[in-house]
Amino acid sequence: MTSAPHPTPLTADDDWWRSAVVYQVYVRSFADSNSDGVGDLEGIRQRLPYLRDLGVDALWLTPFYTSPQIDAGYDVADYRDVDPLFGNLGDFDAMITDAHALGLRIIVDLVPNHTSSAHPWFTAALAAGPGSPERERYLFAEGKGERGELPPNDWESIFGGPAWTRVPDGQWYLHLFDPAQPDLNWRHPEVRAEFEDVLRFWLDRGVDGFRIDVAHGMIKAEGLPDVGFNSMTTGQRQSELLGKGRLPYFDQDEVHDIYRAWRPILDSYPGGRMAVAEAWAETPQRLARYIGPDELHQAFSFDFLDATWSADSFRKVIDTALAESAIVGAPTTWVLSNHDRQRHVTRYGDGEVGLRRARAAALLMLSLPGCAYVYQGEELGLPEVLDLPDELRQDPAFLRTGESRDGCRVPIPWSGELAPYGFGPEGSELSWLPAPATWRALSVAAQAGVTGSTLELYRTALRIRHEHPALAGTDGITWLETEPGVLAFRRTAGGAELTCVVNLSGAEVTVAGHGRPVVASADLTERGDGHVLPVDAAAWFERR
Ligand code: GLC
Repeated sequence: MTSAPHPTPLTADDDWWRSAVVYQVYVRSFADSNSDGVGDLEGIRQRLPYLRDLGVDALWLTPFYTSPQIDAGYDVADYRDVDPLFGNLGDFDAMITDAHALGLRIIVDLVPNHTSSAHPWFTAALAAGPGSPERERYLFAEGKGERGELPPNDWESIFGGPAWTRVPDGQWYLHLFDPAQPDLNWRHPEVRAEFEDVLRFWLDRGVDGFRIDVAHGMIKAEGLPDVGFNSMTTGQRQSELLGKGRLPYFDQDEVHDIYRAWRPILDSYPGGRMAVAEAWAETPQRLARYIGPDELHQAFSFDFLDATWSADSFRKVIDTALAESAIVGAPTTWVLSNHDRQRHVTRYGDGEVGLRRARAAALLMLSLPGCAYVYQGEELGLPEVLDLPDELRQDPAFLRTGESRDGCRVPIPWSGELAPYGFGPEGSELSWLPAPATWRALSVAAQAGVTGSTLELYRTALRIRHEHPALAGTDGITWLETEPGVLAFRRTAGGAELTCVVNLSGAEVTVAGHGRPVVASADLTERGDGHVLPVDAAAWFERR
């Protein structure tokens, strides 16, 4: 086992993750230090002071491991090394050392459901042939039909098309995502041992936590039973059941054994090492089973992300998420955007309306108890880039489904007049996806220090979140009576009170009786004893 080069030097707060704000760094699009048009670990290191000043507590880094990059690094060929595109292990060590010195924790992405087809295990499995022990680590099966020419069952890839690919010797292998991402057989002891070792490898290097990719996927129902329909038979895609229904390849009870084995490993390291599941389950109750003292620390609650722009919709998902996590004694997570989903400025209507709503949603999210995940660029109010030319799109799902996640992955604009807006070093013109001309006005440099900018809104809200005694408390929220279409809740602790009011009513409202406004997503005007909160705006009021 590697010795620990970077014991976590941060204060021994084992519970830091309960109320942290985690900033998702989509590594290839954050900052490019070597002018190749792709972000890298050294680029992150150089920009750490920006993240400290923004006021986040931790970074989650998307996969930077050795990979053919078919699915932007979610196809891992070596779990213990850095892809040359992003640097090397020395760059990782330098980055995490500096991050810790600035008080920022580092969460890395773990991709256990599948490897890359370039992983030595998979190339060995192909070479060794049917019936070999090498094939046992993956899910190989005989096909149906007279000559085995049909896939073993009706399962469909999340990226479209059948979840099975046939190899030249006639067997088929399972890939719930791209054919370049073969699913591992998690009933195989070597697979389990390998990932426990990979966890230790990164824990020894000082990481503070893991984001577990497709955490609900590793165990498939015995016998690999048919779903009963797919796009070919009924036109309905199986992935439409994600988060709504049962599928034989997701959320099987046995998957929890894996996490019960991982938790003691995490707990054996000092400093509160955590894990957050990217899991989809049929109900919030089943999702809550992934978290708790003997499994994972958190699971992303995507219902918040999926809430529509209405007070009822938000209130319902907030209440459900708080109730479910209270039962298992874990903090709720709040997410508005990530690298797989359309950016929320655009989801909420795009343009000026979308931005107003996104800013209000930020104040809503950041005043809720629990842990908030901020996706890079949301603090700049970036919209989805909708008009990327097809030939530049790189999402492997695009060719199969016509849907592409590239529009939320465009490199961050940092400064300057011309694209890619300081993404790389001075003079570098490359970026793996082009930024639109409108992003000049959205760059970090264009917004820093500008009153009312989205960047300054996030900075102010994050500062208050850290300093305000009412937001530091772990108690839940108290909903307040309001006019229809308005959300208002209060948090209290240490004799202080903070009230968040969000106006989703479609008309301006007057807010009174909650104390003094401390931050607002749009200009407030005084009226009588209160303040006018414009349409699609939110504000925090305090009393101490
Ligand atoms: C997760 C990732 C996504 C990736 C998929 C396959 O959903 O967030 O980006 O394509 O897993 O690894």
